[in-house]
Amino acid sequence: METKRAERIKIMGTGMYVPEKILTNKDLEKMVDTSDEWITTRSGIKERHITAPDETTADMAIMAGQRAIKDAGLAVKDVDMVLVATSTPDTIFPSTATWVQKGLKADHAPAFDLSAGCTGFLYGMIVAEGLILTGTVRRILLIGTECLSKVTNWKDRNTCVLFGDGAAAAVLEKSEDESGMLSSYWKADGNLGELLILPGGGVRHPASHQTVDEGLHYLQMKGNEVFKHAVKRMGEAALMALKKAGIKKEGIDYLIPHQANIRIIQATGRRLKLPEEKVFSNIHKYGNMSVATIPIGLHELKEEGKLKKGSDIVMVAFGAGFTWAAIVYKW
Ligand code: UT7
Repeated sequence: METKRAERIKIMGTGMYVPEKILTNKDLEKMVDTSDEWITTRSGIKERHITAPDETTADMAIMAGQRAIKDAGLAVKDVDMVLVATSTPDTIFPSTATWVQKGLKADHAPAFDLSAGCTGFLYGMIVAEGLILTGTVRRILLIGTECLSKVTNWKDRNTCVLFGDGAAAAVLEKSEDESGMLSSYWKADGNLGELLILPGGGVRHPASHQTVDEGLHYLQMKGNEVFKHAVKRMGEAALMALKKAGIKKEGIDYLIPHQANIRIIQATGRRLKLPEEKVFSNIHKYGNMSVATIPIGLHELKEEGKLKKGSDIVMVAFGAGFTWAAIVYKW
């Protein structure tokens, strides 16, 4: 499904949060049979941030949300809805969004979670677009937050070297000028869900001694299978959203791809025939923070002053589900 609207939504402010503790590839060499060289060449990751033992997905979201609201020059009371995209909720229920609503003291705001894997922030923007442009709500605080370190098997070298924790948020409202979300494209394929999954703890495999013994409470990924689909789908999604926006590949100022692997990022850049400097990457610093990678990328580009008025950005992601999506956005 593709959408393009005459009216558009706009990002009024952004904020991010990553935990203080940094885990380097050298640290991981002491934990599993791996090397800095393997991790760097296969994934592009050098280090990642890890939550404190008592720090949660909602805690990170609250920090990022407060910063985004401040950046927008607003107060909590000005935000009409809290929408949280995550795959690592604080609790199965109530939603992480309601914990965040409590933490922000946003008692007036409805709050709910959206689960779409690493694609969740883009799915969230598309949902927010619908709610805002139909007049259901005026302003939405959209937060992508992920605490993967607490669902990672730290003895499994296939996965534990890849992920990190973090959160970022955006305040969204109707645009009054040309800037904002120009087009979107979103898809899913539930047939491939088993390739990237956290199988235990839900009602399919309710938590038990057996599920814990079998490690079903940890995320599992068939990395090289996921890799192939990610490369194909991210390129496809970006091209579809660009077509809908009526913008040529050459017109892109920045591509912000989901940060799962530097080789996927580069392959997507090549598919769009973009020079390296137009393809955003910060994976070396953070690893794969799932739903948080795109809003953190957006926030960092903005803070570095690289997004000028009128810059055309493409955000593209792929993740568990599978889900994939792209958004073309005029800054
Ligand atoms: O965010 C959602 C989407 N996620 C992704 O898009 C992730 C996609 N996948 C990937 O990024 C990559 O597939 C990985 C980085 C996970 C793996 O890279 P790969 O080039 O696909 O490697 P591989 O899985 O084919 O494994 C190659 C070898 C294996 O050894 P053998 O069987 O060839 O002897 C692994 O056992 O590398 C071995 N290996 C490791 N060696 C050292 C796997 N993990 C490690 C490790 N250190 N940490």
